[in-house]
This record gives sequence, C-alpha cells and structure tokens, in this order.
Amino acid sequence: MIQLQSISKSYPVGRNVTEVLKDIDLIIQQSEFAAIMGPSGSGKTTLMNIIGCLDHATSGSYYLNEKLVTGYSEKEVAHIRNRDIGFVFQQFHLLPRLSALQNVELPMIYAGIRKKERRQKARDALHQVGLSDYAVYAPNELSGGQKQRVAIARAIVNQPDLILADEPTGALDTTTGKQVMAHFKQLNKEGTTIIVVTHEPGIAGYADRVITIQDGLLLDGNDIGRSRETLT
Ligand SMILES: Nc1ncnc2c1ncn2[C@@H]1O[C@H](COP(=O)(O)OP(=O)(O)O)[C@@H](O)[C@H]1O
Ligand SMILES: [Mg+2]
Repeated sequence: MIQLQSISKSYPVGRNVTEVLKDIDLIIQQSEFAAIMGPSGSGKTTLMNIIGCLDHATSGSYYLNEKLVTGYSEKEVAHIRNRDIGFVFQQFHLLPRLSALQNVELPMIYAGIRKKERRQKARDALHQVGLSDYAVYAPNELSGGQKQRVAIARAIVNQPDLILADEPTGALDTTTGKQVMAHFKQLNKEGTTIIVVTHEPGIAGYADRVITIQDGLLLDGNDIGRSRETLT
C-alpha cells in the first residue's frame, strides 16, 4: 500500500541544508498496524506528512497504492487525502465554533456528500466512538479524550483505507490514551491500515510492528518483531 524508496527531505537553513529524513526505505502493507517511535526532532512528523501527501520529499519515490504520488494530479491528491486517508493529531484540530457532529461532517462536505446522508454518517461515526450523547457539544465542552474520539470519528467517517495518527495520545492521560488506542486496534481488525507516531512504548505496544526513527534514519523493528515471535 505504502512504499517509500530512498526518501530524503531537507530544508535550507541559512547557507546550510539540514537533512531531516535520510534515504528512507519503507514498505507498509494493507491492513498493517505500525507504530513509529523516535525522539523529538527525529523526523516523525515530517515522515507522516509525506505519507499523508501533505508534504513532498526532496528526493526519492513514494508509491501509494502502487502509483507514484508525484504522478497524481493536485485534484487526485486532494481526493486521496479526503477519501482514502484519515488524519488524527495530538492537539485534535477540531474547529471550535462547530459542534462535535458538525466537526465530523466536515470531510463529507469537502467530499460533496448531501446533508441528510452527511448527518446520518456523522451520527454513525460518533456512535462508533461512543459519543452519541455529545453530538451537539462544542469542543471546549468536551474532555481531551472525548475531543480525540470526535477527531477519530471525523477521521473514519469517509471510511478511509489508511489512518495516520501523529502522537494521538500525547495530550491525554494514560487511561484515556489506552482507550483511544483500543479504537485504533478495533479499526485495524476491521481492515484499516493504521500508522501511529508515539513516544510511549506502552502505546506502541498496540501496534504489530514498531519502526524506530533516529536523526532521520529508519531502524525498522520488523526483524525484532519476528525474533520476538520465535522466542515466545
Ligand atoms: N519547515 C521546516 N524548516 C526547517 N526545519 C524543519 C522544518 N520542519 C521541520 N524541521 C526540522 O526537522 C526536524 C524533524 O522535525 P519533525 O519531523 O517535526 O520531528 P518529530 O516529529 O520527530 O519531532 C527538526 O529538527 C525540525 O526542526
Ligand atoms: Mg512531531
């Protein structure tokens, strides 16, 4: 589903260039649940933004569903971001003036879905995350965990194949963070590919595969996972 070949990303800083991602090779298959771990500043968000087609690599090739992303038109990329990928962020990114239900409806407005269908699907998505009773609440009337569940409902409402979550539990307490991860685990069981960036080993433990990034270099834990399997 996702194939990165020699992906590098650099930024000009004054007269120099900082290399944020260095020659990254990574394959993520359909229906995988992967965690990306690494210290602050190691390039996790940069990598997620490239995978989510929010940013371009400086060099290398990125294939999404067997097609070179640079081969898609702007319109196709916007469509992919809206329909095929769900995004979840550390700070929720909910619109404060909209209710929970209206926030969940947003991706469907962009997708051009009619109001009645939108309402129903948004209600279904809120129901899935256990927030049916909070549809009319504004984000500032919800707890952190509830906000993140609204964000998950928004991410899943167009039934994407892929969910990208950048430190989704970073602003939550441990118990609430685990509940959020349990939602991702359930979605993964239903076939959604999930990639979660996290600092916390306990959170990464929900994933089937842990990928470590350090100074823009990838250390894939695939082999570690396999050797662990042979040990147990
Ligand atoms: N627009 C930018 N311009 C220059 N440097 C950037 C930019 N965005 C990110 N960086 C640098 O890239 C490195 C990796 O950032 P990031 O991907 O956000 O790391 P992480 O998410 O792992 O904390 C950091 O050193 C950061 O300062
Ligand atoms: Mg980050």
